[in-house]
Amino acid sequence: MHTAPPKKQLSLHDLIVERSKRRQFLGGLGATLAALPFTPLFGCATLPRSAPPQHAAPPDVPTPFAEVSQGIDAHFHLSPNHASQVLLRWGDPILPGAPPFSPRTISPDDQRGQFGTNCDFIAFMPLPFGSQNSDHGLLCVNHEYPSPTMMLPGFTRRKDARDKCTQEQSQMMMAAMGHSVVEVKRQGDQWNVIEGDFNRRITLLDTPMDIGGPLRGHPRMRTTLDPKGETIIGTMANCSGGITPWGTVLICEENIEHYFIGEKGDSPEAEHHDRFGLYSEPRFPFYRFEDRFHLNREENEANRFGWVVEIDPYDPASRPVKRTAMGRITRESATTILNHDGRVVVYSGDDHYFEYLYRFVSEDRFDPNHPDNNRVLLEKGTLSVAQFGTDGSFTWIPLKFGQGPLTRENGFKDQADVLLETRRAADLLGATPMDRPEDIDVHPQTGRVYVMLTKNHKRSAEKASDANPRADNHHGHILELSPPALGSEGVDHAANAGRWDILLLGGDHTNPDHRAHYHPDTSPEGYLANPDNSTFDNQGRLWISTDGAEGTLNTCDGIWVCETEGDQRALTRRFLRVPIGAELCSPQFTPDNTTLFVSVQHPGSSKGSTFDQPSTRWPDFDDLLPPRASVVAIRHQDGGVVGRG
Ligand code: FEO
Ligand code: CA
Ligand code: CA
Ligand code: CA
Repeated sequence: MHTAPPKKQLSLHDLIVERSKRRQFLGGLGATLAALPFTPLFGCATLPRSAPPQHAAPPDVPTPFAEVSQGIDAHFHLSPNHASQVLLRWGDPILPGAPPFSPRTISPDDQRGQFGTNCDFIAFMPLPFGSQNSDHGLLCVNHEYPSPTMMLPGFTRRKDARDKCTQEQSQMMMAAMGHSVVEVKRQGDQWNVIEGDFNRRITLLDTPMDIGGPLRGHPRMRTTLDPKGETIIGTMANCSGGITPWGTVLICEENIEHYFIGEKGDSPEAEHHDRFGLYSEPRFPFYRFEDRFHLNREENEANRFGWVVEIDPYDPASRPVKRTAMGRITRESATTILNHDGRVVVYSGDDHYFEYLYRFVSEDRFDPNHPDNNRVLLEKGTLSVAQFGTDGSFTWIPLKFGQGPLTRENGFKDQADVLLETRRAADLLGATPMDRPEDIDVHPQTGRVYVMLTKNHKRSAEKASDANPRADNHHGHILELSPPALGSEGVDHAANAGRWDILLLGGDHTNPDHRAHYHPDTSPEGYLANPDNSTFDNQGRLWISTDGAEGTLNTCDGIWVCETEGDQRALTRRFLRVPIGAELCSPQFTPDNTTLFVSVQHPGSSKGSTFDQPSTRWPDFDDLLPPRASVVAIRHQDGGVVGRG
């Protein structure tokens, strides 16, 4: 009897290569869009769009830069022919009258006038407003969280610092969080900080902000300090963000669960708070001094964090607004695209294990002739969550009260409840649990969308799905979404479905156990792990920054540059390496790509390292100073585009 030969089991690498061949055959999207004409842009040149390229002339193919080696040490390493300048360090005075950095005596008042700590997302907003200037602008920088044992002398364990620090020290750390707006100007190869009128600190300690959208005034937003549910003091856990077409900055509130304390009881919010992990042990001391961080005393306060905050950096007197129509998650980023039809599309990831990928589409359209109307575009729209099929398709499912399971029977009384409990709503809608979605960026020519999935060691073999294909995923991967093409209009970011593919699987490609996937020509320096933030340059190369490679691959984090189209797709090259203990956040180019700004976050935060005995004293290397998170400006030695040989 004839028996069919056993079917060959394709490896993950083979599957991705096969799918990629099919993608090229079906697609041609990249080639079509790359040939489209230049469309001038309103506002910031750094804004990604669904429309075609923003540069007038086709870019030259750059000479490849020489790679930085893998390794772990106390220093910052950069590809040859480039120079770095540490531009803004934790504690640098940025407001008039602020004192110089004095880490052993720094007070909350000192810190209010100084650059915050653990810099993360950076937006470069050209000056004057609406220009494309690349030598003068506002750096808008998030300060994600404090590192108590690296900021305070005398503590060796985070728990001790939390339990024993003084109220003054606690308030200093609250003032070190939030956001900074800093005017910067370049002269020759040097960037300078200007102590001008634009400079501003926004903190968790004392910056009032408004609540916008459907949750404004909602009973679940009311607290003792704010009985109307309309204003909030401060923002926290500001990780990545976005830039709008009308010149504002979006900053995201991410890991809010580290700031609250409480016992899960039977209050109406208990299940909801539990879904956000709010009853886990807090990392920071703020609850010791303010009741609002105590869930059993002020249970609605936590509902007022976990949102996108919109800031107008060009108006230092403006009040930040929490845009509740965009949903509440532990949000990494808010990557904003102007769709072909004038609607604004914002992509976000909920950075926790098995959480979801989201998209917000504004109801109204961007109108360059009526700037005031644009300022409320994020007040109304549709939030959707992604569901990935096994056939290479994905669908956006809207989170709308009254539709499907989002009804009173399931505990939602209105759209405000759906937005406040975004995660539970997405669970009920059957969203696809992901491997910790972080930053998201859009290719400036093809319109394809790239999602950094940092890792998920909790994924079992049974739970491995096509879009999250590896069990025990220690190294993370990058997912590519292709919204439907619209010919000369680019792609439709507001469409309800599209195709997905995998760009790469992190890990060491020379180690078969990692089941990594890159272009076969990737060098021994080219492998990466734990993609976190990203950006595209004007040539359409994806710049990937990482968080965690030191633990998972025994090499410090950094930036890798990757082609996404053509015969070098998924070829990654290492461009820089950060000092021990640090992660690299927020690669952000000037519009002409001649300066790249990066955040070196938590340098020296390696095992056993403390303020008194740090594993590095980068960037000052002064025995009296701790390591300091800093923004670094990177330029090519010839003053041209960054990222060439
Ligand atoms: Fe704050 Fe998801 O990194
Ligand atoms: Ca991060
Ligand atoms: Ca980005
Ligand atoms: Ca991360």
